[in-house]
Amino acid sequence: MSRLDSFIRRLTAQRDILNSIFDLVRETEGPVLEFGLGNGRTYDHLREHLSDRRIIAFDREVRSYSASTPPQADMVTGDIRETGQAYLGIGASLAHADIGTGHDDIDAITLTWLPQLMAGVLATNGIAVSGLPIDRPDLEPLPLPPGIKEGRYYLYRKT
Ligand SMILES: C[S@@+](CC[C@H](N)C(=O)[O-])C[C@H]1O[C@@H](n2cnc3c(N)ncnc32)[C@H](O)[C@@H]1O
Repeated sequence: MSRLDSFIRRLTAQRDILNSIFDLVRETEGPVLEFGLGNGRTYDHLREHLSDRRIIAFDREVRSYSASTPPQADMVTGDIRETGQAYLGIGASLAHADIGTGHDDIDAITLTWLPQLMAGVLATNGIAVSGLPIDRPDLEPLPLPPGIKEGRYYLYRKT
């Protein structure tokens, strides 16, 4: 599969999974955490569908499209490994992490701290959506929407 096909399938999986869990997220109170703001496309999608929730976005620096940039109070800059620690226990209804690189060595380092952070920021029944697999006993894998191949993007609920 070409890298273009792979990229499109990954983003399709991301969007379809997010679209499939918005009703579930509304059942749980709490903010939404967007780890890896990037250009802000996913942030814009979350904002459109969860308009009543506070959405806090994280990235090393703000490089998003101006219309998809969160208000200053909801934008956290720096390394998520460190900045995320202040949000442990916040009781998020949804945490989304799109911070995989496709480089196994870099992603392996991210996976030494991301699972603990994802589980730690979520409320009970909060939803985790991630481009990297999250192996935690308190994050139960949920079925993916039809058409999304296992291993393309990941979906969990905090028990
Ligand atoms: C693939 S992009 C996210 C794209 C985003 N979903 C969008 O719609 O534009 C990944 C982003 O995560 C950020 N990132 C990755 N690892 C990070 C870390 N440890 N700390 C802070 N930001 C990180 C990168 O700077 C990059 O902007």
